[in-house]
Amino acid sequence: MMGPLADLARPLLLALDPEVAHEVTLRALELGAYPRCASARDRALEVTALGLSFPNPIGIAAGFDKDARVPDAILGLGCGFAEIGTTTPRSQPGNPQPRVFRLVPDRAVINRLGFNNAGHAAALARLKARSKRGIVGVNIGANKDTSDRAADYVAGIDAFYDVASYFTVNISSPNTPGLRDLQAPDALDELLGRVMAARAAKVAMGALQRPIVVKLAPDIAPEDVEPIVAALARNSVDGIAVSNTTLARSGLSDANAREAGGLSGRPLFNRATAMLARVYQATDGKVPLIGIGGIDSPEAALAKIEAGATLLQLYTGLIYEGPGLIGRINTHLAKTCAERSVISIGELTGTGAAEWAAKPLD
Ligand code: FNR
Repeated sequence: MMGPLADLARPLLLALDPEVAHEVTLRALELGAYPRCASARDRALEVTALGLSFPNPIGIAAGFDKDARVPDAILGLGCGFAEIGTTTPRSQPGNPQPRVFRLVPDRAVINRLGFNNAGHAAALARLKARSKRGIVGVNIGANKDTSDRAADYVAGIDAFYDVASYFTVNISSPNTPGLRDLQAPDALDELLGRVMAARAAKVAMGALQRPIVVKLAPDIAPEDVEPIVAALARNSVDGIAVSNTTLARSGLSDANAREAGGLSGRPLFNRATAMLARVYQATDGKVPLIGIGGIDSPEAALAKIEAGATLLQLYTGLIYEGPGLIGRINTHLAKTCAERSVISIGELTGTGAAEWAAKPLD
């Protein structure tokens, strides 16, 4: 699908049930019917982080490609990296439908999917069959009915070790009861102790050390940010992703605001960006952060970097703006580097962190 056709398709997709629209989008990507945009090759956009070289800092967030059906198409849209998942050891259906709701006037989505996915084996088979290069992260989670959550994350590390460019440990989805409890410092020590031991066992066998990122919720109380970040640091995580969807509901106008689940999109931007800046300050800018939440314009992407992000991901913005948003963000970031006479986009990371960290988490 060429760019103008993609523009035509968007109102049609928005007229469909959200999950049907998503399936249509995935099928189009599987068929190669999407506007190709060679990943921006501007030197200023290149990012070295997590021990990897990203051609540009923008990726599509987890949940878009839960079963690794289209990582190469995501890269083909011009993204610097893709992230598949959340994947759980066993396939599971998720919550009953309807479970995804658009809030069109708010440019937002509420979802309570509950980790519907086809399980590790299905995603692994697809990733093993890939021949193309490019950075593909694997976002791992736990089955709803597991008796040992940490064991599910360890199973993810073991299963995907040879094919994952990096791992994201997702402990922040609001739709699996109790999952967010894993963000408590003691629970983090227990979970990450086992995850890091699984990685160490791979390294001991001669494998490369794969980076491990932990994805946080935006609903952490302000006083809990430092202890959580301290727990992540003492467990030597390689990166932190901020943030997942929020349970907050302020400032919404659409009737779907009443639906239960995680809110994403524009209304999440301020809260997630203020949280990102707080995490940036708590880590002294020493841990690479993936800034996520409400990026739906080139300006929002730049603000996320200034608040502390080294890498970026978006999902809901793609639903409302279409795939051309990726290219527009990269163009704007490259232009900003030229205007501000910086050699690399990384020089802008955190330049606005103090201002963003001072904002309330609302
Ligand atoms: C998500 N998100 C998500 N995150 C995650 O770590 N694992 C997942 O499986 C999912 N699934 C999912 C489904 C749907 C329909 C949405 C809208 C979101 C959260 C996502 O990765 C991201 O963190 C938030 O959506 C915030 O970014 P945006 O959407 O505001 O750009």
